[in-house]
Amino acid sequence: MNLLDGKLVSEHYKQKIKTEVAQWVANGNKPPHLAAVIVGNDGASEAYVANKVKTCAAVGFNSTLIRLPADTTQAHLNDTIDSLNDNKDIDGFIVQMPLPPHLDSISVTERIKPSKDVDGFHPINMGRMMLSQPCYLPATPKGILLLLEYYKIETKGKHCVVIGRSNIVGSPMTMLMSRKANPGNATVTICHSGTTNLKHFTLQADILIAALGQAEFVKEDMVKHGAVVIDVGITRVDDNTNARGYRLAGDVAFNEVAPLSSYITPVPGGVGLMTVVGLLLNTLAAAKKKCIIKRIKINKIKLYDFKKNY
Ligand code: GUN
Repeated sequence: MNLLDGKLVSEHYKQKIKTEVAQWVANGNKPPHLAAVIVGNDGASEAYVANKVKTCAAVGFNSTLIRLPADTTQAHLNDTIDSLNDNKDIDGFIVQMPLPPHLDSISVTERIKPSKDVDGFHPINMGRMMLSQPCYLPATPKGILLLLEYYKIETKGKHCVVIGRSNIVGSPMTMLMSRKANPGNATVTICHSGTTNLKHFTLQADILIAALGQAEFVKEDMVKHGAVVIDVGITRVDDNTNARGYRLAGDVAFNEVAPLSSYITPVPGGVGLMTVVGLLLNTLAAAKKKCIIKRIKINKIKLYDFKKNY
């Protein structure tokens, strides 16, 4: 068993980004600037966003954290997004999910300008990803691709089974693993809560990606010997032996699955750290205007015009 070490790989990428930012700034440009909006005070979301902001500073980005109370209205959130869309100093921004239930996350996602959507969640970015056209890839799937690439894991011709069909991870991950690229070129099966006999599919996986959000769901008897196991889950599980009163668990029962696998991501220290790298790379591309997406009107129809590719 080999660890897919998110700490090692994320440090490698952060160093590369830091060097590129220093060069960019030395050439007279302003540092990339990421803004993050968080609504309410969900503990896990707070921790993720704090980490994103902290990592910005480590690589030389500017960052702005906008905290809104849990009872923020849709109108106020919309105004916040509009002002970030119009703010020329902000290269990209994210609205941390999930939002409190009274807010409409679909309209929030669609309100963000595609050219500043460094989460890659806007339908324009998602659609372009689907068509293998220039876009911002969602940060977690992008981070997983970087991890597979770093460890030179062969994906071509392999059977990749993804558990979970979320918009943020499962669905885009299946697209990316099947498209004609490296990493990619895999045969992909997507499994979810409606799958009957899940084990039948997971046991066929050369590459198993668990992204369902249920602590230690994937057990030893669900994994083929020699499989590559990517664990996207991170759930707080009550644990009185821990000073914090909880521990972090992945979707995979690590201790029993690790000895079977050829490669496996730990939790924490795996995919989560790579998500931040995906976000930083998207923000750097946004700052360098490598993917300019403009709204234009042709015959009164609003379209999106991509000026450059990257
Ligand atoms: N919630 C969980 N993952 C993410 C992410 O990658 N971006 C945002 N905005 N919210 C999340």
